[in-house]
Amino acid sequence: MADLSIQYLGMKLKNPVIIGSSGLTGSVGEVKHAAASGAGALVLKSIFEEQILHEIDSFITRSERNGGDSFQKGYRSVLQEREYDYEEAYAYLQDHAKEQTLGKYLSFVEESKKSVDIPVIASINCTTAYDWHYFARRIESAGADALELNVFVLPSNTMKTSAENEQVYFDIIDAVRKQIKIPVTLKISYYLSGLANTAIDLSKSGISGLVLFNRPFHPDIDIDKLEVNAKYLLSDPSEYSQVLRWIALLSGRVDCPLVATTGIHHAEAAIKQILAGATAVQVVSALYKEGFGVISGIVEGIGQWMDKMGFATIDDFRGKMNQQNLKNPAEFERVQFMRLYSKIV
Ligand SMILES: Cc1cc2nc3c(=O)[nH]c(=O)nc-3n(C[C@H](O)[C@H](O)[C@H](O)COP(=O)(O)O)c2cc1C
Repeated sequence: MADLSIQYLGMKLKNPVIIGSSGLTGSVGEVKHAAASGAGALVLKSIFEEQILHEIDSFITRSERNGGDSFQKGYRSVLQEREYDYEEAYAYLQDHAKEQTLGKYLSFVEESKKSVDIPVIASINCTTAYDWHYFARRIESAGADALELNVFVLPSNTMKTSAENEQVYFDIIDAVRKQIKIPVTLKISYYLSGLANTAIDLSKSGISGLVLFNRPFHPDIDIDKLEVNAKYLLSDPSEYSQVLRWIALLSGRVDCPLVATTGIHHAEAAIKQILAGATAVQVVSALYKEGFGVISGIVEGIGQWMDKMGFATIDDFRGKMNQQNLKNPAEFERVQFMRLYSKIV
């Protein structure tokens, strides 16, 4: 029988199939359910920067409007008893709101870790350097085995250069890594101008894994209501190929493990990503569509394929089909298929 175990984040995972971050890992009950699926590890639902800022906003509005709750008492004590000025009181409230949101996430991490016997990776979703170093330290203390930073900088600000946008990733990694000892991984989108070059630089920044790629929200327009709405919240199985290209191009060139995410719904797609050089794969949409049984299907499928092909371990075939190992390295870089298109038209 094939051995599917891998080394990732300094730990032994029983297999390379990781449940990615989503609402399916958003509560302790769900985490227990997810772990029972047979996955090698799981990533908790992220704590979002926007979520904290929103909490701070509504917390302060609430406390300014209502008198008498514990919050308001704190507010008043700062204003009256300690004679701070408004700005200091505001900062006090901000810290209080931040603590409340963070506190909930920390107990979630702590309880999740206690409830399952597979590695638990906490997750922060951020777009600026913010206070993440402080959060990261607390998440480490709560017992997370590793921390995934989901950084999504949409380069839509016309006043910012690519270099400025990309610097954000390095600033966040730097701020977080200074504070914690547990492994830190980075999940990025493909919205980076010099993707290969930046990914290689990011892999040298001290991270323990590069997760390719986060899947952006797909905006659409409802032409009857004249409203913008979200479409295609879940991925389609055909989407694995975009990730496959970049895993294959970067494999052997980066200084940290690569993890594939987006469009992995079946064992075949997982096997392809590992052949291209991925250390592990993350799965989310397929679980929403078909349930947690997908995980055992993928794990068993990989094992059966390995037995058929005569591969005893994952290392025996990881990266075998990356760009550096291909007879024709141009295959993964081809973007216009004249030969294929000419067959269609
Ligand atoms: C409903 C839903 C919620 C998600 N929440 C998070 C999240 O909290 N943090 C995060 O890093 N990614 C989140 N993701 C992104 C997934 O982790 C994953 O990267 C993406 O869906 C692509 O993988 P898939 O094709 O297997 O779905 C979410 C995805 C979905 C569909």
